[in-house]
Amino acid sequence: MPLITFIEPDGTRREVEAQPGATLMETAIRNGVRGIVAECGGACTCATCHVYVEEEWLAVTGGPSPMEEDMLDFAFEVEENSRLSCQIRVREDMDGLVVRVPRRQG
Ligand code: FES
Repeated sequence: MPLITFIEPDGTRREVEAQPGATLMETAIRNGVRGIVAECGGACTCATCHVYVEEEWLAVTGGPSPMEEDMLDFAFEVEENSRLSCQIRVREDMDGLVVRVPRRQG
């Protein structure tokens, strides 16, 4: 199973096993990663599952869909590498993926 590292808001690195097919948000919630709120449960309507994808992984995760981009407008401190973690589905080739959780969610 792919290993994903979440860097929590205080800098703690949490390496967790992810189930391919699950979303990054589900993986974070299942493992008690701090800083992911996911108020809407993955419906892409809350922007409280915001993460920053480490630069070297952007090509693998890809960018946001137009719907996700619209929702990201409601997230705090959006950057070029911002994604909503409920919109990233884990694949085997994401083994080693690193994402950072922001200090604050929308
Ligand atoms: Fe609400 Fe991702 S969980 S947008």
